[in-house]
Amino acid sequence: MKFGTFDDTRKEYVINTPKTPYPWINYLGNEQFFGLISNTAGGYTFYRDARLRRLTRYRYNNIPLDTGGRYYYLYDDGDFWTPGWMPVKRDLDFYECRHGLGYTSITGERNGISVNQLAFVPMGHNAEVHRLVVKNTGSAKKSVKLFSFAEFCLWNAQDDMTNFQRNLSTGEVEVKDSVIYHKTEYRERRNHYAFYSVNKEIAGFDTDREAFVGMYNGLESPQAVVAGEPTNSVASGWSPIGSHALNITLEPGEEQSFIFVLGYIENPEEDKWESLNVINKKPAEAMIAQFATDAQVDAALAALAAHWDNLLSKYQIQSGDEKLDRMVNIWNPYQCMVTFNMSRSASYFESGIGRGMGFRDSNQDLLGFVHQIPERAKERILDIAATQFEDGSAYHQYQPLTKKGNNEVGTGFNDDPLWLILGTAAYIKETGDTSILDEQVPFDSNPDNTATLFEHLKRSFEHVTNNLGPHGLPLIGRADWNDCLNLNCFSTEPGESFQTTANIEGRVAESVFIAGLFVFVGPDYAEICRMRGLNDVAVDAEAKIDNMKEITLTHGFDGDWFLRAYDHYGDKIGSNENEEGKIFIEPQGICVMAGIGVEDGQAEKALSSVQEHLDTDYGIVLQQPPYSKYYLNLGEISTYPPGYKENAGIFCHNNPWIMIAETVLGHGDRAFEIYAKIAPAYLEDISEIHRTEPYVYSQMIAGKDAVRHGEAKNSWLTGTAAWNYVAITQSILGIQADFNGLKIDPCIPSAWDSFEITRVFRGDTYVIQIKNPNHVSKGVASLTLDGVAVEGNIIAPVGDGAVHQVVVELG
Ligand code: BGC
Ligand code: NOJ
Repeated sequence: MKFGTFDDTRKEYVINTPKTPYPWINYLGNEQFFGLISNTAGGYTFYRDARLRRLTRYRYNNIPLDTGGRYYYLYDDGDFWTPGWMPVKRDLDFYECRHGLGYTSITGERNGISVNQLAFVPMGHNAEVHRLVVKNTGSAKKSVKLFSFAEFCLWNAQDDMTNFQRNLSTGEVEVKDSVIYHKTEYRERRNHYAFYSVNKEIAGFDTDREAFVGMYNGLESPQAVVAGEPTNSVASGWSPIGSHALNITLEPGEEQSFIFVLGYIENPEEDKWESLNVINKKPAEAMIAQFATDAQVDAALAALAAHWDNLLSKYQIQSGDEKLDRMVNIWNPYQCMVTFNMSRSASYFESGIGRGMGFRDSNQDLLGFVHQIPERAKERILDIAATQFEDGSAYHQYQPLTKKGNNEVGTGFNDDPLWLILGTAAYIKETGDTSILDEQVPFDSNPDNTATLFEHLKRSFEHVTNNLGPHGLPLIGRADWNDCLNLNCFSTEPGESFQTTANIEGRVAESVFIAGLFVFVGPDYAEICRMRGLNDVAVDAEAKIDNMKEITLTHGFDGDWFLRAYDHYGDKIGSNENEEGKIFIEPQGICVMAGIGVEDGQAEKALSSVQEHLDTDYGIVLQQPPYSKYYLNLGEISTYPPGYKENAGIFCHNNPWIMIAETVLGHGDRAFEIYAKIAPAYLEDISEIHRTEPYVYSQMIAGKDAVRHGEAKNSWLTGTAAWNYVAITQSILGIQADFNGLKIDPCIPSAWDSFEITRVFRGDTYVIQIKNPNHVSKGVASLTLDGVAVEGNIIAPVGDGAVHQVVVELG
């Protein structure tokens, strides 16, 4: 069942009922100021950090789930309603929500009045702009009232939800003209405030929550709206809100627009005050003046659209499959950028108060956006590398505001260092900019202890070879990619965090996954060494990589598939010998991606085993059989009920590894079959089962052992976005940035006839036509650049900034 449709021309998803199976959200903001907004106008806003600079309050896990947002109540002669349906839930004659790139437009109509609420964050501004257009669609003159509503958060979202003995006494506001200022704690150490304005004269206002809502009402029937009268309350302690009341008279067919701005201001310490206890409002007034007219709002919307057009223009496909086109051209790169902006901080499944950017997560995320904004990828790489230690190990997370490693989570996730090589290599392949390797980067954020980024990569590589276990495979440490396979944890304390609790200093448990990752990223490291003239280092690295391949085949292969690990006792995990957890997805994906066992058939066997044991109609599950009870020696993986999350859920992040692995073996049909099973646009028709947004990936879909098989959770912020983008754009469609140029190596369903991709690469634009007259899956038979035949399948960068025609024939 569908709950909306894609509008590809406008790059929007159009939701036609407020009663979606779960709140379907969008993200506003690209730089410093962000908002989450659902299809019923729920959500919240923050400046840079969803925990420390939260502007508006949001109660996660509320009843109903998504209650609280930027609401506009229309009062019409005793009747009142909200255009997004929630929270009033009055029947609407028309409802529509359009989620676009960086904006959301919600329209509701009832009794001859239509209200459109358009929300976005203008580029270069720390504010959300909401334009409300109220229209009289009937035949009689109407007088209505509009009430805005936003509930302020007292800045620190964690403290705001816990420290009531203090917080109920600190709230302060000011009201001047049509602007409500939220200034809690500004009197002391804060130099920032929020404001909420409207560009018309108001009939009244409320800033005290209980005065507006009423002590015994909910947001579905705020007392002031029920009465049709604001109370002009001035908050003093308790819970400050912002609500404007506007009287509107409309002739038949007439519409009026109201521009609200919900913004954030920081004042210099010496300029905090206008007079005693009166805040300096000048910067707020300056911002408000920039959005006083519809023309100004239209111009800001146009700038936002241009921003996105530019980002998306770097890779565009025309394939004839509209689902594929909308994933590749619009929604997948959009999600990659949102994931870059948010890391794992704020979604409808991440509360925004769990701190930190992941070391491995950020390196993988950048694979999905490096071609859109390489400069920011560079900045991110240097930030991440600065949290590495001298021995090559790394903090698992770092804080976005301080950029320092997160002590609470600590280090010891032994896959982390290798992802830095992958991320850096992706940046160099995209840009050709090797100067990044010479940047001086601190260890442990200590400016007095630095080395080149190249030296950091070297230590990353050597961290693996310096930490091998009894079989010569890499030691797993706290965990590898699978945070829940905790082989050194042995936690018996109820509620203890598997992620942060002290582990034993085990030097036995080994990871076949890290071995595969080492062989996968190792050649990039060796190539980087060569680029720096370090031939000996490269040769030595290659010998170590070859050796790891051997060891993986000898000690990491179980007959029909790759093993997952050896545990603390040296026993096999992910082996036919195990009763549960016999086969895992991760090593099959990464080892074949690395080319291990391709020559002698182990790779083929591993992928057939995946298909035989792990495949389902909704994607490939993480392992089989699931763990049916808690295993002390395995940790968090065995805490989840069978079929959910890491315990045999369909973890969408590593399905693309299998797609990529299939392309290594030339299986284009199978690779695309897996792609289409989890790509959200292909799941639109089963939205009642899938439940999360049909325009973005979710981290997890419940596996075949779960009660709710096929149901997704944790949408938006997941490495799934980047890896699926890599799998489809680079491995299946086959356009890959490489050190020497743009490599063309598609691996597609054999039935495909042709497709065209426009790819901007190092300043030039390549219009690439790929033809498949002989209906093969893989293999470039001929390639021409501007009509001239090219040897092999790599286009050396032309470098003239012009548009170039590339014609490729498979065969
Ligand atoms: C989740 C993992 C996640 C980890 C760290 C676990 O509870 O299952 O997916 O990586 O927490 O946040
Ligand atoms: C989510 C985490 O963010 C990521 O780092 C991890 O690899 C996966 N879960 C799998 O556990």
